[in-house]
Amino acid sequence: MIEQSVLSLRRATLSFGDRPLWSGLNLEVKAGEFLAVLGPNGTGKTSLLKAILGQQALTSGAVEILGRPVRRGNRDIGYIPQQKLLDQGTPLRARDLVAFGIDGHRWGLPISTPTLRRRVDAVLESVGATDYASAPVATLSGGEQQRIRVGQAIAGNPKLLLCDEPLLSLDLQHQRAVSELIDEKRRDLDTAVVFVTHDVNPILGMVDRVLYLAGGQFRVGTPDEVLRSEVLSSLYDTPVEVIRSRGRIIVIGAPDGHGAHGHDVHHVESGEH
Ligand SMILES: Nc1ncnc2c1ncn2[C@@H]1O[C@H](COP(=O)(O)OP(=O)(O)OP(=O)(O)O)[C@@H](O)[C@H]1O
Ligand SMILES: [Mg+2]
Repeated sequence: MIEQSVLSLRRATLSFGDRPLWSGLNLEVKAGEFLAVLGPNGTGKTSLLKAILGQQALTSGAVEILGRPVRRGNRDIGYIPQQKLLDQGTPLRARDLVAFGIDGHRWGLPISTPTLRRRVDAVLESVGATDYASAPVATLSGGEQQRIRVGQAIAGNPKLLLCDEPLLSLDLQHQRAVSELIDEKRRDLDTAVVFVTHDVNPILGMVDRVLYLAGGQFRVGTPDEVLRSEVLSSLYDTPVEVIRSRGRIIVIGAPDGHGAHGHDVHHVESGEH
């Protein structure tokens, strides 16, 4: 029997005005597969996630989740949106947001049952947010809010987890903790993961395949197939060099300085010693 894809894109094209962000995108993501989405600013990574969520209509082509057309509010999908600070006015606490991830949308119940409370506590602990579980989220730092967001997205045990730059504003220790947490979820529950990032290095050991968007084109393949000088030079249409050093990938010469990786090199030189 052919294993059903969790996510399936067929000849998917998205244009705003006459400029296609990507076109003719065919992609199947299976249960338990980890797909990294890389590419410079404005190439349509967030828009791709929105199309998968049913929040953005495709210009043409189709997107299916578990063999069905996308629809909004699908509980099989967990979503970590690209960072935006939470509204200062919100009185919600970290534990409220995590509880929404478990049951809020379905029944709108407040946290009351001991079982739910235990699950919320377990999720908060897994993202390292126990200490500020009851603080209003608007008072938390960007990195702390980010960890709550991850908790909310994984709390409902989704079949597909969409992560839009989830490591942004996390220090190295928490980058590692959050990526490992997402990876653990994937292995425990066979969750398919689509992970948008500007730096592939923190997740390199987890990635099965890469979707690289640049210059209105894309490439899909294993990291070894896609993250090569000749492939990226052809995508960017300019000479780009991919160097592997101490198990890390460094991209040199990408226009706009996007180095899946450039800013991360700086982190390593300045942050880890
Ligand atoms: N609803 C919309 N209407 C018109 N243009 C849009 C819309 N949504 C996105 N765009 C444009 O599409 C392009 C891609 O946006 P998107 O947010 O998907 O990029 P991205 O790859 O996620 O970039 P970043 O790395 O900066 O997050 C941008 O130029 C954006 O302005
Ligand atoms: Mg984006």
